[in-house]
Amino acid sequence: MIPPNSALEDRVQRALGHLRNKTTDTYSQIRSFTPSGYTDPELAHRERELIFGTVPSIVAHGSEIPNPNDFITLQMPRNKVLVVRQRDGGVRSFVNICRHRGALLEPRASGSCRLFSCGYHRWSYDPDGALRAITRENTFGDMDRSQHGLIELPTEERHGFIWIVDAAEAKIDVAAWLGPEMDETLRGYRMDELTCFRAEGYDEPTNWKIMQDAFIDVYHLQYAHPNTAGKAIHTNVMTVEDFGRHCRFAALRKTIDRWLAEDPGNANLAAHVTDNHLLLPNSTLIRQRDHCELLTFRPDPAEPGRSRMEMRLLVPRAEDTELDNDAWHALWEKNWKILLTVLHGEDFPLLRGSQSAMESRSAGPLVLGRNETVNHIFHREIARLLEAGGWQA
Ligand code: FES
Ligand SMILES: [Fe+2]
Repeated sequence: MIPPNSALEDRVQRALGHLRNKTTDTYSQIRSFTPSGYTDPELAHRERELIFGTVPSIVAHGSEIPNPNDFITLQMPRNKVLVVRQRDGGVRSFVNICRHRGALLEPRASGSCRLFSCGYHRWSYDPDGALRAITRENTFGDMDRSQHGLIELPTEERHGFIWIVDAAEAKIDVAAWLGPEMDETLRGYRMDELTCFRAEGYDEPTNWKIMQDAFIDVYHLQYAHPNTAGKAIHTNVMTVEDFGRHCRFAALRKTIDRWLAEDPGNANLAAHVTDNHLLLPNSTLIRQRDHCELLTFRPDPAEPGRSRMEMRLLVPRAEDTELDNDAWHALWEKNWKILLTVLHGEDFPLLRGSQSAMESRSAGPLVLGRNETVNHIFHREIARLLEAGGWQA
């Protein structure tokens, strides 16, 4: 089971106060913004370069590639990427391109492979990226093979997740990027002990920030999700811990309502709260009582109006629970289906509409309220990265 977090009680008590007073943690001001932030190709280019090309972002949970030679491939904003578990247990990532004439080296989404062999002229590469063999080498001409291995991307496994900076020349330091508060927070969750029950990706005609904004938003719940999330979680009530780059925000489950009139005293309120985390630049980590959900939003490599969302359900391994294998599968399968229904039936249609509306040429300025604290933090930090020309480990 996920261990409890020590300061949780304080956060729940404060949130309960908000619920009683119909208030919430608020930001210092409202913020006006223009729709061009979601449609401008030049801005989208700067985001790919200055944000994704300099800061670590999560690409997978370690349990998705548990054994040596296990791999996944993905499209990052700047590069096609191949992520491979190494023989020594570490993880390395490479640009997924053959160094001969540039074929896509590994077309599969995932698998296990002892030798990555190119479909075009059959050059082959070891899982550590070294160029192992050139076909018909006697006719090819002299070449230093060590200079033609796969191009490596900075990669680190920390707190159970695999993080990549999407630029070969960059450095990676996930602890420095997280900062002491968030690094300590994630360490306490011991997510390396969980397993990824399922990971799926969805290509959407929506800017990545519209997507990210929707999944740090507790203001929309009862309006956009009246029969699902809005029934289970209180709307517009949260406590926010702003760590200066990332933040944690607690939302209240409606099961807490029994304590509205009564003083909870020393009762354990942990079951009534969901701890959410904005992991800048593009993930929301939702920590439920017995599992976690990770949502990731990646810009398209070219189109500002497109992105890919990935959803991961991270759960205790069957052997760490009292459930037998079938019951374990049934439980998490049911959870997964509920998440999918809300996502595809409720959020995606709304957000597609938002993107197409934002493309209106006379849309006028839009506004973020003081109650939308986490959205403020997200946009503040994205703007800060762009102004600073990126981040350096
Ligand atoms: S492009 Fe890969 S072997 Fe020729
Ligand atoms: Fe939503």
